[in-house]
Amino acid sequence: MSRSAHPAGPRYADVLPEGHHPAPPADLNALDPRVWSRTVARDAAGTVTVGGLDVGHLAEEFGTPAYFLDEDDFRARCRAWREAFGPDADVFYAGKAFLSRAVVRWLAEEELNLDVCSGGELSTALAAGMPAERIALHGNNKSTEEIARAVEAGVGRIVVDSFQEIVRVAHIAQKAGKRQRVQIRVTVGVEAHTHEFIATAHEDQKFGLPLAGGQAAEAVRRALKLDGLELVGVHSHIGSQIFDTSGFEVAARRVVGLLAEVRDEHGVELPEIDLGGGLGIAYTSEDDPREPHEIATALRAIVERECAAAGLAVPRLSVEPGRAIVGPTAFTLYEVGTVKELPGLRTYVSVDGGMSDNIRTALYDADYSVALVSRTSTAEPMLSRVVGKHCESGDIVVRDAFLPADLAPGDLIAVPATGAYCRSMASNYNHALRPPVVAVKDGTARVIVRRETEEDLLRLDVG
Ligand code: LLP
Repeated sequence: MSRSAHPAGPRYADVLPEGHHPAPPADLNALDPRVWSRTVARDAAGTVTVGGLDVGHLAEEFGTPAYFLDEDDFRARCRAWREAFGPDADVFYAGKAFLSRAVVRWLAEEELNLDVCSGGELSTALAAGMPAERIALHGNNKSTEEIARAVEAGVGRIVVDSFQEIVRVAHIAQKAGKRQRVQIRVTVGVEAHTHEFIATAHEDQKFGLPLAGGQAAEAVRRALKLDGLELVGVHSHIGSQIFDTSGFEVAARRVVGLLAEVRDEHGVELPEIDLGGGLGIAYTSEDDPREPHEIATALRAIVERECAAAGLAVPRLSVEPGRAIVGPTAFTLYEVGTVKELPGLRTYVSVDGGMSDNIRTALYDADYSVALVSRTSTAEPMLSRVVGKHCESGDIVVRDAFLPADLAPGDLIAVPATGAYCRSMASNYNHALRPPVVAVKDGTARVIVRRETEEDLLRLDVG
């Protein structure tokens, strides 16, 4: 197929409000390093490699769709966070973004801690040997069994999220003859500039206890009275995919304000604050995320200033990045199955995966980029919508992107920045088999999560 086969091929300006989306890139073969993982490159012959391996060979060996995770990039990002925050702070990787035993081992080696939010994540963390004291358990409705397991294992902290949970954790810890370290999750009343479903610091939502109106202060009062609990601090997570530091700064100020109130009322200085995760990443060339050192500098400055003003010792700070560590380190490789041009509208490119391996476009209107990676092309840009093979029209992977007009069945295309919340939110919709995660490093590729099989599906279906 060539451009001449698309005489009335859709042009960008025909179908999108002007200024809403970028013009086609100058070079469709270029791979913008802002959205691709560090070791992805296209060599002079046009071959795309990751960790030194040809993506065409990877597709042959591991099949498509598949996620390829760049281990060097993952480790480099862990180190950047550790170095940015330094020895007086803790970096907890948020396992919900993507968790596997290999990832847990990398985290342990890079001296990160781990935030888990379910019994399943806790099991994975413990199975891979993460020391329990470096694990934090989260969740707005942890089961009694999950709490008991965490207490038994000796997790470093449980972040309590309601009045009932304060009592529940205290009771379970006391029964186990332990004193559990806890933080209280508070909502600081910040409107994070992100999608409604991933904003978590405004008051009208399910997480945390609001500072405003005194529920957070009341939670502190109750927690301090219970023998089974050692209240060590306050936790705030304002949301996800956030690009400016101002929301974090407001959160830090308000959290320190609560510590000052606690000191005034109880004579106790809580030694820790956690400001959560949420730093955004580049999904497209238009995104301009902050670096870990920028956020570290801003947060440290504001915490130190507020503590000095309140006469408090500076508490130990922790943060919980998920997306900003794993998001940029992986791409999803798909094979093109059909290319359907709708004259005057756009071209629909169907791939062998879809909303089962990336629900983020359908759920949050997320933007992604895409590139042809099995060859180069000099064809003109074609406004494309990359769609999956599922039985619904909302099954969109990349809403609007330019691909070369000679794109054809059998071509491989890759969607970068799918390391976070893609495999971890993958489903079996239409009995799709969830793709593998293949870790790539220094010319070696190994499966760290294998592809699901029809046998796996049938094993759960007990007839
Ligand atoms: N800490 C807590 C308490 C959280 O709830 C979260 C994310 C994080 C840290 C990590 O946030 P991150 O740095 O990854 O933004 N499924 C959505 C994101 C939901 C995030 C839930 N909590 C998405 O695909 O965008």
